Amino acid sequence: MPTAVAVAHPNIALVKYWGKRDAGLNLPAAGSLSVTLAPMATTTRLTWGKSSDAFTLNGRAASGRDAARLSGFLDLVRALRPDLGGAEVVSENNFPTAAGLASSSSGFAALALAATHAARVELGPAALSVLARRGSGSAARSLVGGLVRMDGGRLGDGSDAFATQVDPLTDWPLQVVIAVTTEASKETSSTDGMTLTQQTSPYYPAWVAGVEPDIDEAVEAIASRDFDRLARVAEASAMRMHACALGADPAVLYWRGATVDVIHTVRALRRQAGIPCFVTVDAGPHVKVFVLPEHVDRVNRALLEVPGVLRTILARVGGDATVRIEGS
Ligand code: PMV
Repeated sequence: MPTAVAVAHPNIALVKYWGKRDAGLNLPAAGSLSVTLAPMATTTRLTWGKSSDAFTLNGRAASGRDAARLSGFLDLVRALRPDLGGAEVVSENNFPTAAGLASSSSGFAALALAATHAARVELGPAALSVLARRGSGSAARSLVGGLVRMDGGRLGDGSDAFATQVDPLTDWPLQVVIAVTTEASKETSSTDGMTLTQQTSPYYPAWVAGVEPDIDEAVEAIASRDFDRLARVAEASAMRMHACALGADPAVLYWRGATVDVIHTVRALRRQAGIPCFVTVDAGPHVKVFVLPEHVDRVNRALLEVPGVLRTILARVGGDATVRIEGS
């Protein structure tokens, strides 16, 4: 059996996905909008025809819940070609895993691509995005580069809930400075956090109702290369997602002290120093700061001075996921 090697980049949402309309099929309650990032990437090598599944993630064998989740995902490919048997999967991230740095987005995108190509199962871009979505909602957005829009869809089978590229952003080189505030794994997974939010936060309906208008506004802002307009809508989306999660019972709280301090620093850079920049925060304590290239150094220096910021990672807009076949 051939080995497929897939490389996918993580993405960061400008308008967030937070809530599911169907947990079984992993269908989002609304759409979302993201930017694919480089140079961060997951590289996944996969070979079918083994007696059972075996996963090595960042040099360590996966077991228990992690392995069960990955095997459950591969079952979706085995359903398309039942003679595949088990898979040997070796996957490496060149950035920290499971700390709110979007590793599931690139991880399941790379796995979907490697698993289907190694099986010679040909899926079009929409079907591939639908498959990746079953592993992780944000993974549906990591198969293509640039600015990516995820459609929440309406159909019960989820065949219309997939992501497409809106703009490669080649002439608008947005950059992201990521302030890393802990090396530890997050305490509450995004799935657990969004489920609890959905079940218990009184703000959830208002959150969902605001998502599609925010996507439209952000797409318009980007189409006119209006950074300040994008900053307002994207920062509001992140804040409202977390406000909604804080309304859960018990509260879903991902922020640490350094998270809040970085947010204040970015507001000061914007208001006092006139630097165009904005924050977004996902299901973890790190802060991602969007900025245009001419201001990266200034923002990076300011973030490194915030107590509790361990280090920063610099990212730029990334491209499409890729796959190649080795052997025969
Ligand atoms: O893809 P998941 O299930 O890990 O959920 C992602 C949730 C957020 O990162 C917080 C928001 C988003 O749209 O990526």
